[in-house]
Amino acid sequence: MKHTLVFLLIATFIYACGGSDSANETSGAQEATTATPQVDGKKIYKQYCVTCHGLYGDMGASGAFNLTTSELPVDERIVVITKGRGAMTPFENLLDADEIAAVAAYTLELKK
Ligand code: HEC
Repeated sequence: MKHTLVFLLIATFIYACGGSDSANETSGAQEATTATPQVDGKKIYKQYCVTCHGLYGDMGASGAFNLTTSELPVDERIVVITKGRGAMTPFENLLDADEIAAVAAYTLELKK
């Protein structure tokens, strides 16, 4: 009986350690994802879009649409960014869906 109890204690101890270990791992993974919050749309914009749209969205190089006056809803922006339109290049091979959604959301912030 005593043996069983000791065994149980050890087993519980090992289980508890194992449990807290994996809990740490998951919280570590969560930290890693929160360190890069979703996706930084502003950063993507600065990297891929300023060449035509300019830092504030109103540069209009190569006939780029003025994003400060654009009334396009976000879902249609996502389509334009994904598939391209006119002189604008498609970004579906450069950015994944999350990044496109993030940068589309960011372009809404450029609106005056
Ligand atoms: C090669 C230059 C170029 C780059 C790079 C570029 N665009 Fe454009 N963009 C354009 C042009 C040109 C248009 C207008 C397309 C047309 O005439 O149909 C446009 C249109 C748009 C529109 C539609 C606006 C409206 O109201 O119709 C959005 C939104 C947009 N761009 C967002 C972006 C984002 C976000 C990026 C970066 C991921 C980007 N663009 C990169 C040239 C560019």
